[in-house]
Formats: sequence, structure tokens, C-alpha cells
Amino acid sequence: MRSVEPGGAGVLGQAEDNNMAEKLETAGELSFDDFDDLENPRPETSDFDEVVEEAISRRGLLGGLVAFGTASFLLGSSALTPAHAKGGSRFGFDAVAAGTDDTIVVPKGFSWHAVVHWGDPLWSTGPEFDEATRGNGASQALAFGDNNDGMAFFDAGDKAVMAVNNEYTNRSIMYGARETKLPETEDDVLKGKAAHGVSVFEVRQAGDGKWRVVKDSPFNRRITADTEMELTGPAAGHDLLKTAADLTGKRSLGTWNNCGNGRTPWGTYLTCEENFNGYFSASDPDYKVTPEQSRYGIRTKDWGYGWGAYDERFDVSKHPNEAHRAGYVVEIDPLDPKSTPTKRTALGRFKHENAEVVIAGDGRIVVYMGDDERGEYLYRFVSDGTYAVGGDASELLDKGTLYAAKFHSDGSGKWLALTPETTGMGDQAEICVFTRMAASAVKATTMDRPEWVAAHPMKAEVYCALTNNKNRGKKPNAGGDAAPVGGPNPREANKYGQIVRWRPADGDHAADFFTWDLYVLAGNPAVHEEGDLRAGSANVNAGNFFNAPDGLGFDSSGMLWIQTDGSYSNEGDFAGMGNNQMLVGDPVTGEIRRFLVGPRECEVTGITFAADRRTLFVGIQHPGEKGDSHFPDGGDSVPRSCVVAITRDDGGVIG
Ligand code: FEO
Ligand code: CA
Ligand code: CA
Repeated sequence: MRSVEPGGAGVLGQAEDNNMAEKLETAGELSFDDFDDLENPRPETSDFDEVVEEAISRRGLLGGLVAFGTASFLLGSSALTPAHAKGGSRFGFDAVAAGTDDTIVVPKGFSWHAVVHWGDPLWSTGPEFDEATRGNGASQALAFGDNNDGMAFFDAGDKAVMAVNNEYTNRSIMYGARETKLPETEDDVLKGKAAHGVSVFEVRQAGDGKWRVVKDSPFNRRITADTEMELTGPAAGHDLLKTAADLTGKRSLGTWNNCGNGRTPWGTYLTCEENFNGYFSASDPDYKVTPEQSRYGIRTKDWGYGWGAYDERFDVSKHPNEAHRAGYVVEIDPLDPKSTPTKRTALGRFKHENAEVVIAGDGRIVVYMGDDERGEYLYRFVSDGTYAVGGDASELLDKGTLYAAKFHSDGSGKWLALTPETTGMGDQAEICVFTRMAASAVKATTMDRPEWVAAHPMKAEVYCALTNNKNRGKKPNAGGDAAPVGGPNPREANKYGQIVRWRPADGDHAADFFTWDLYVLAGNPAVHEEGDLRAGSANVNAGNFFNAPDGLGFDSSGMLWIQTDGSYSNEGDFAGMGNNQMLVGDPVTGEIRRFLVGPRECEVTGITFAADRRTLFVGIQHPGEKGDSHFPDGGDSVPRSCVVAITRDDGGVIG
């Protein structure tokens, strides 16, 4: 039995000095980005010339505008017009107040119940969740994973199947039964790996209206960090993807840090690998990461999972190519439990948030994707082939063109193709593995952490949550690209986040050009003066304020659901905002109304509707990540992430 040091450092050799030891002890409590900053400090200044150039062009454009700080020119009309100034509300509920209770609050006339929690068995051979031990490797392999995020409800005739991402684990919760609150044994690491990936299971709504997992259903499946996957697309079989265990470069094991999701018109589920880097470490104390590894945040130390101690795939000093096999969008057939998940390399390798799939007018498939890191990019994939109902879709996500977004300060924008010609990179395979470098090469716009993208169901209009970016205007991204204030990222050291939207030219998602504006600038009008950009746009007020928009999803009526993953300190700049929450926005009027407040220290993430639209499923992730929650069971219970079903008491349609 081998002890894993704090910070998952068991494989790492000696800490270099006391300072590093301190860093390792606290690493597991830091956010992914803060850990990244600690391990890979960026210089304080951006590329000076580029910043000056951007500033000059902003001044030129802005002239003497003062209507809304200095950013009035780029705020959408809906963001500028207070909602109460217009008639005709499309909201079917009364707003709920911000709050700090350790429960879920929904509007009057709505109810919620938990459908499945971390550790609930999907098969009758699995034990019920054990509060005392919090499970082990064997029980976790038969149970719903941890920290659920993106998800989708699939209608399978008289059955219903859900696919749900299990993004990551919090050491203090997963290993809370250990005195050290760390993975201490090989089985602890197996438990952690089994708590990641995707859970697929049948659900059924009982006579009492409650949705429950159908244990032992033939649809039930756990996909984990050890499940066999196929690599397809331009990078499949490339030398960069070959490892000692897979000389073909086409078969990898596992998916982890599965954040947001997508779904295809042909009925498959897309799961998106986000902070995949934090699982790798190096046993060789002299190992130096390469510039490519560094750009993706691969370090000699992991985030605290300890996987490298027992599975040498995660030891970058032994298997440097293994990390090239993660950071993709993975396609899963949720209705075929024997199918092999497919890593679609054509969609690029980065810290994928979600994958919003639309069909262009000519039938080509377009996938919008964010890379969630400070100063990284927004992407689009356009397939070569076209989709036909019932046709062969097996290669639609393998052949096509990848683009990165360029936003100009005048409200126009362009998709920049990432090809060997435009990037100067060797071939398309290299572009698909080192996509961030490709986007840097074409000088795409560095963004304030692109999270979910959602496309309007009735018109060609697409929204992306830019969650926050404390480095905006202060530090470049991990590739050294400047991140000046301007365009869709108008605030220095952006604390609150914003939602940018764009309209493709001629309503064609495959067009190269678009126009954009900001749907909302989140902010705190109770703390900051009117006119200060930190007060937020005009559609933000003391009754609906929030920070860090993250999850996004449209309902069938064209209303935008907004989920937050921000500061729940309820103090200082965030005073009055309370716990993380979910709001609904009207894209036309700009009005935003709070629908739900989550329990303490959670984020609200993941959204899908039942086939009849009478149930809304929402994810509650990491309640009590800092120790102050017993959600959902209360008392002294272990806080557990869960999927929650929300229904109207009158049985009506929600969205
Ligand atoms: Fe897993 Fe960017 O959120
Ligand atoms: Ca997210
Ligand atoms: Ca987030």
C-alpha cells in the first residue's frame, strides 16, 4: 500500500522546496485555473504593441460615447433597454430572491426532487451509498459518478435514457472518510477514476410524479477513465497519438473531466473533455515539460488526483503522448451500451466546455465550442458532408474545417480557418492535436473563458457565456497572446462575466462572417455606481443580479436558461448575490429573471428537458466544496452532487 502525498504527489519525487510543498498541500483546494496560474505564472504585462493598437482602435470607434460607460457601442439593444420599459412578458413564473440557504429554491407553483446522486447504484448488485466510507473502487464502478455536469435526455420510444457527465471529484468529499482527506491507496485512486466519465441510465417517472433510475436496465452503463475508446479524424493514427500501449494511435483508454455536452441530430451524445491536464504528473524529478505540454497546462504535478501513482499512463515523463489523447469531444451512442465511444479529433483538442450542434442551411453540420481558460478561444467546426435524416452520420464529425473566432470592435466578426496554409503548421493532424497553437497563429480573439455555447432554436443566433477573467487587460494567455480590454471582453480583470451573441451572415451557420453584440454584462448594481461597467448592463438589477454565467441552454420557446458557477461569498463585489443560481433570459426584450437558487457552495450546471417538456432536469454540482453544505439530505450527511427534476405543480409545460 502506498501513500499518495498531498497534491497527489506520491509519484512526483521530492518537493523542490518548502514553498512547493506548501503549494502541493493546497493544490486540491484551488480552482483549475488558479492551480494553473500557480504552476505556470504568466508575466504581468501583455504584448505592449498589440495592447496599444487595440486601445487606439477602441478610442477611434468610441469617440465621445458616454451612454453606457465606454462600451455602449457593443451592447445589444436588449441589454440597453430596461425590461420593464417593454410589455409582453414571456416568463411563466415569478422571480425568486437571491439566497444563502442550503437547499434549492424554485418559484411558487414549481417543485423539485433529486433523481440520482453521486454514489447511487445503477445496478442491484451495487450497494447503496455508504456515508461512513463514501464507497470504494468496486462500489463506485457500479454507481453514478461524481460532480455531474452536462447531460441529455433521450427519448427511446416507451423508454427514457439519460446520459450525464461526471466531471471531476473534490478530494475533501470523495476521500472525506480518510483522515488526510486524500487518496491513500490504489483502491482510492480506482474509486476516483470510476467516479469520472459518463453515466448512462434509464429513468422512469413513477405514479407519484417522481423520476427514478431504473436499476439493471440494459441501457445502464458506466463510462470511466478506463473505458476503451476509438480515436478518429485527422489525428487518428498520427505519431503524436501513439503510445507504448497503443502503437496504432487509434485506441485510447478513458475519458475524464467531462464538462458540458452536446447532442447530434442523429441521436448521439457528445461529452466534452475539459481540464484533462490536471491528471498528469511526472515521476522523473528532472523531467521538463515541453512548450506544447505547457500550453495545455500539463505540469510535473497533478491537481491532486494521484492517478499517476498507480497508472503510469498519467506519468508524462514515461508516456508523454498519452496527454495528446485527451482534450477532445467524445461521441457516445446512449442507446447502444456495447458501442465504443469515439474521440472526434477533427473537433480539436483544447479544454472543451460543450459542443453545440446545429444544421446549416445546406445540411452541413456546424459545431460551436468554447475553450474554457483565461484568454483562450471560441471555435467552430463545419463538416464537409451533409446530414440527411436516417443517412450515414458516422464520419460527419471526422471530416471538415475547424475555425477560431475573430471579433472586431465594430461589432463584426470572422471565422478564421485553421489549416496548414493559414497556421504554418505541418498538417491537419498537428492542428487537431495542438489546436490552441493553431488559433494563436491566426490571431483569433482571446476570450474571457468561453463556457457553454447555445444556439437559438428558431433563428440563426448563437450565445456564449464568457464566465470571467481576472487576467483580462493584465496578463496574456498561456501561449503569450495578448488579452487586451475591448470587443466582447470589455472589462479589465473581469469579475462578473458576460454573454456574447452572434448572428451568422445571411442566417447561415456555415458563413465566414458574423455580427455580434453583448446580450448581458453581469455585474453588481448594488455595489458599483451606474455607468461603471462593473454595475452590469441595463438588464441587470438588484432583483436579478448574478456572476459568472456558465451553463446555457435554450428551451423550445426560445428562452435562454443561464446557470452560474461563480463566487458565492455574498460579500464585497458579490454582496447580495447569494448562492449560485439559474436564471431565464428573454433574447428579445433582454429581461432576465431568476428561476432557481442552488444550495451552498454548489454550481448549477447541466440542463435538459424530458420529451414532453413537463420536466426540466438540472445538475447541482459540488455542494459543500469548502465544507459548508449537507445537501440534499441535510443533518450531518455527506453533501452529494445530484441531478434534480423540476416540475410544475399543475403538470404544465416548463420549456
Ligand atoms: Fe467544467 Fe468550464 O466548466
Ligand atoms: Ca462549466
Ligand atoms: Ca465555470
